[in-house]
Amino acid sequence: VMQGRVHAYEGYPLSEVTFPTRVLGLLGCTALIVTNAAGGINTTYKQGSLVALSDHINLTGSNAALGPNEPRFAATPAFGQRFFDMSEAYSPQLRALAHAEARKQNIPLAEGVYLAVLGPSYETPAEIRAFRTLGADLVGMSTVHEVIIARHMGIEVLGLSLVTNMAAGVLQEKINHEEVMETGRHIEKQLTSLLTALIPQITAASTS
Ligand code: HPA
Repeated sequence: VMQGRVHAYEGYPLSEVTFPTRVLGLLGCTALIVTNAAGGINTTYKQGSLVALSDHINLTGSNAALGPNEPRFAATPAFGQRFFDMSEAYSPQLRALAHAEARKQNIPLAEGVYLAVLGPSYETPAEIRAFRTLGADLVGMSTVHEVIIARHMGIEVLGLSLVTNMAAGVLQEKINHEEVMETGRHIEKQLTSLLTALIPQITAASTS
């Protein structure tokens, strides 16, 4: 269990951003749950919505798998390839478990596509309109690099976003970082309860 992560916007190279994911994979983790705070682009979302990621769009301008390919990272001979599939980046099976558990606990859980930018500036309203046209439901500054590296290693991924704010221009309000943090603290209980129930199920599903 990682206490947070480092981000590219802090100045870390992607090799360092994804170092913990590599370590988890080499320790034998076969499933990874990634959580993040995101801005809501989809207008059916509200501040505080939880969203299971169905896919992502990497607009950070880089890729953590850049550089020489290291086959020792392969979880099985089928993984660790130079060119690797991302068509099921977010496991449909793990997502189905998340939806079932959320229903059981009466926690509303939406589904959506996460678009990643480099940051650290929040987006302009024009960028958000463009991202909506591209098919994005959420925008954030993390996650995609870890997910790319997890998939390189054959690790199954569940991605959960918390909509801490509606994205720029969606509401007639400016984005306030304190508010982003406060929404995170507010939803922490629900997320903890969901994850506490999900982790044993995921462990059972990924070892059976
Ligand atoms: N944009 C990008 N990243 C974010 C946002 C946002 O609106 N909210 C939380 N992380």
